[in-house]
Amino acid sequence: MSEAPTDLLQQRYGSGASPAVIDNPIITALLAHRSVRAYLDRPLPEGTLETLLAAAQSAATSSNLQAWSLLAVADPERKARLATLAGNQAHILQAPLLLVWLADFSRIRRLADLQGAELEAVDYLDSFLVASLDAALAAQNAAVAAESLGLGTVYIGALRNRLSEVIEELRLPPLVYPVFGLCVGYPDPVHPAAIKPRLPQELVLHRETYRVSPTEAGAIERYDRILADFYRQQGLPSANWSSQAIERLKKVETLNGREQIGQRLKKQQFELL
Ligand SMILES: Cc1cc2nc3c(=O)[nH]c(=O)nc-3n(C[C@H](O)[C@H](O)[C@H](O)COP(=O)(O)O)c2cc1C
Repeated sequence: MSEAPTDLLQQRYGSGASPAVIDNPIITALLAHRSVRAYLDRPLPEGTLETLLAAAQSAATSSNLQAWSLLAVADPERKARLATLAGNQAHILQAPLLLVWLADFSRIRRLADLQGAELEAVDYLDSFLVASLDAALAAQNAAVAAESLGLGTVYIGALRNRLSEVIEELRLPPLVYPVFGLCVGYPDPVHPAAIKPRLPQELVLHRETYRVSPTEAGAIERYDRILADFYRQQGLPSANWSSQAIERLKKVETLNGREQIGQRLKKQQFELL
């Protein structure tokens, strides 16, 4: 599957003028990303986990703290339980591997305990962000590496919906929480995933200082039409981005249990000060 960057850009931004990009194999691979939600019942090649982990550990990490860990779940029964906890997402069960990316200060906590040292800074929101961001950067490196091997991935943020049960299932100690999951497997060609269009660059890019584009409303309307066409072509219920985005954030119920994670994280000894 190697498409020309111009075709990929056309799919990424819909019809009309695509931005001019500098082309190389890594950029082409990044442009070709799509989330995969249908997997073959085919095992991963030997060494896949170690390869993805090496790619993940090669990501930048704040102050070299490496305050994250990876929990690999391949046991079908455990995947089934996690799929239920994550809103019954069948692809979790179908994919041979579920990678759970953990923000993890417990390793440094154990080290400090051995030395009788304090870790005051861990209690602050910034440290929570540091560990979560590190885990996310690592995961994205692994996702790109997986795609380069012909594998597909999809993130599973819904792993935070029933956070307490997921923490129990995975036996996570204090100062560890699952940032999200990532399914990994061979994409099922019978249900191919397509490149989902994104907002035009003019809406996302600010130069020097933040300035709302005077063309914002019209550009969003155009993007709404592009995305609605995309959903139609995929045989999915037509939806436009504007209403989807507002629906998703309108009421606290749309958080599906995640509105409670602040409290649960405190039990997990993330003070979030
Ligand atoms: C942090 C994060 C959590 C996500 N959680 C889920 C999820 O629980 N289930 C799912 O099917 N897709 C999930 N996704 C995938 C997004 O829906 C997807 O990336 C987005 O619609 C754009 O589509 P694309 O990845 O195919 O370009 C998640 C993505 C991210 C970055």
